[in-house]
Amino acid sequence: MKHDCLAITDARLLTMAGRRPRRGMGMGDLGIIPRGGVLIRDGRIVTVWRAEEEGPDLEGVYTVDARGAVVMPAFVDCHTHACWCGDRLDEWCRRIAGEPYLEILASGGGIMSTVRSVREEKERTLAEIVAEHAGAARSHGTCLMEVKSGYGLTKEHELKMLRAILASQRMSPIGIVPTALLGHAIDNAAPGFVERTIEETLPAVHELLPGAAVDAFCEQGAWSVEDTLKLLRAAQRLGHPVRVHADQFNSLGMLREAVKLGAKSVDHLEASTPEDLEYLAQSDTFAVGLPYCGLHMADGRYADLRRVVDAGGAVCIASNFNPGSAPSLSMPLAIALAVRFCGLTPKEAIVAATINPASLLGDDSRGAIVPGARGDLLMLRSTDERDLAHAIGDDPIRTVVAGGRMMPRRA
Ligand code: NIG
Repeated sequence: MKHDCLAITDARLLTMAGRRPRRGMGMGDLGIIPRGGVLIRDGRIVTVWRAEEEGPDLEGVYTVDARGAVVMPAFVDCHTHACWCGDRLDEWCRRIAGEPYLEILASGGGIMSTVRSVREEKERTLAEIVAEHAGAARSHGTCLMEVKSGYGLTKEHELKMLRAILASQRMSPIGIVPTALLGHAIDNAAPGFVERTIEETLPAVHELLPGAAVDAFCEQGAWSVEDTLKLLRAAQRLGHPVRVHADQFNSLGMLREAVKLGAKSVDHLEASTPEDLEYLAQSDTFAVGLPYCGLHMADGRYADLRRVVDAGGAVCIASNFNPGSAPSLSMPLAIALAVRFCGLTPKEAIVAATINPASLLGDDSRGAIVPGARGDLLMLRSTDERDLAHAIGDDPIRTVVAGGRMMPRRA
């Protein structure tokens, strides 16, 4: 048996070969090989072939017969807040009873409640929590996950979170990409909070993670457009890529400002105007939809991603995993929601959960089944990829292959 070799034969391959990222009409292109195989050696894809072609010599290679099932790139979850502790179950019950998310935040709860819990937690424990979440994400088919800080909100605690996220890379069964969410909320108990974030926390974060994206939550009761711009411009001067949470509840004008800044992504978009979505679509900034919010907030507010695709934009979807607005790591369910409520087709939603978020996170070795790419694959139970979007809360994945190794479904 050839060690560190794995072949999958007789598969319906969604290769995603070709242009990356996908945008507009191109978002429906899955690069399908209706019958084919893939050979992975030492964690990397070495050959992809069609059934009608002569494939590689598989003598001695551990080979799985997919029997026509879909084999596709593993998911890339490009927006999570997976470094958190404590719980917000009492607040959730208040929300179920009708109290709005932003009112809970204004009363010192919400994000600030998790900030208090995280400030009290040890770095090592936070790292273990992220690794545990990463294991759960893998069981849902995710092999690369972005994790934001943002529940520290001081130099000391943001650095602690980011070091914990970095440490989790060594404990996690999947790839972890840290993002410095320095502008997640306003700590009203800290005088000069915005200035301190920009003048103290940002430079310290730059020392630790000079290449990390810097992010902010621009919203009424969180960061204003003016302060968000100050933070993101300062981050850009230090060479950081920037992202922003915008238009979750209110359209404040941040979307256009983010595009003008050249932000990597604008995330949320539930309250965006049609004109702003079309403006975003004409830029190189990704539109990131987070459909768990509409479900968990039970307010029926979802990003109109159909409009972005129709206007030629590049779209991603993500779990947004966090204790307040999106308590799930399941990308299959995010796909199911994006198709029902954000207007994506099943094909577009698959692109938005694989190759496009890999490009957003700057990792072109993921999100496609092409020679040279990482051997991060999923074998579905179905022979038709539309079943991924059709199933609701089901388990559509038969096998997860991470770095060329077939994985147990639970970490
Ligand atoms: O993207 N809205 C801002 N941040 C998260 C929620 C975080 C929380 O409530 O703890 C979001 O939905």
